[in-house]
Amino acid sequence: MKIVVLISGSGTNLQAIIDACQSGYIAGQVVGVLSNKADAYGLIRAQQANIPTVTLNHNQFASRQAFDCAMQKIIDAWQPDVVVLAGFMRILTPAFVQHFEGKLINIHPSLLPLYKGLHTHQRVLATGDKLHGCSVHFVNAELDGGAVIAQAVIAVAANEAEQSLIQRVHKLEHVIYPLVLNWLSYGRLSYQQGLPVLDGQTL
Ligand code: GRF
Repeated sequence: MKIVVLISGSGTNLQAIIDACQSGYIAGQVVGVLSNKADAYGLIRAQQANIPTVTLNHNQFASRQAFDCAMQKIIDAWQPDVVVLAGFMRILTPAFVQHFEGKLINIHPSLLPLYKGLHTHQRVLATGDKLHGCSVHFVNAELDGGAVIAQAVIAVAANEAEQSLIQRVHKLEHVIYPLVLNWLSYGRLSYQQGLPVLDGQTL
C-alpha cells in the first residue's frame, strides 16, 4: 500500500507511521510527504527515512483552489492508495476532498463529533468532560465531519493540566493511526457509500 502523508508541523504521527511500515505492522510504505511549511520538522523525519518530500507554500498561491490543485497534482504523481492528513493545518476544498474521497483520512484530537476544529483539549477542560481522546476518520467536505473509523479514549484526571492531556492524547494518536493503516493495508478496512467497513461490518 502506497501512503502519502500531508503535514504542517512536528510529524510525530508521521514518525509512528514510518516506524510501523518499517516493522511490517503496516503492509506499505510512505512514498511521499508534502508540507505547506518549509520548517516543518516532519520533513526532516521523512528525509531521514529516505522518503521524497515536497514543500508547497500556500502563501504563494492566489487562492485555496489553486493551492489544492497544485497539491493534487503532486500527490497524484505519487499514485497513493491512501492519503493521510497528519497535523496538516489547512482546510481543504470540496474538489480536493472529492478527488481523494475514500482514500483520504485524518486524525483529530477529540472524540468526534465532539469538538471539531481547534483547541480541543482546552475546550474539554472548560466543559469539565470526564472523557477525552482522539478519532481517525475518512475525510468528507465538512471539517472534521467524515465517518469515524476508530477512537481512543482516556479518562480526564481531576485538575488535569492541558499539557498533560495533550501529551496523553498524542500518545494514543500514535497507536490508532498505525492501527487504522494496518487494517487498510491488510484489506480489512474499506470505504463504501461514505461509511467505513471493517471485516465486512459497517462501522
Ligand atoms: C495532532 O494532535 C493531530 O491530532 C492534529 O495535529 C497534531 C499533529 O501532531 N491533527 P504531529 O505533527 O503528528 O506531531
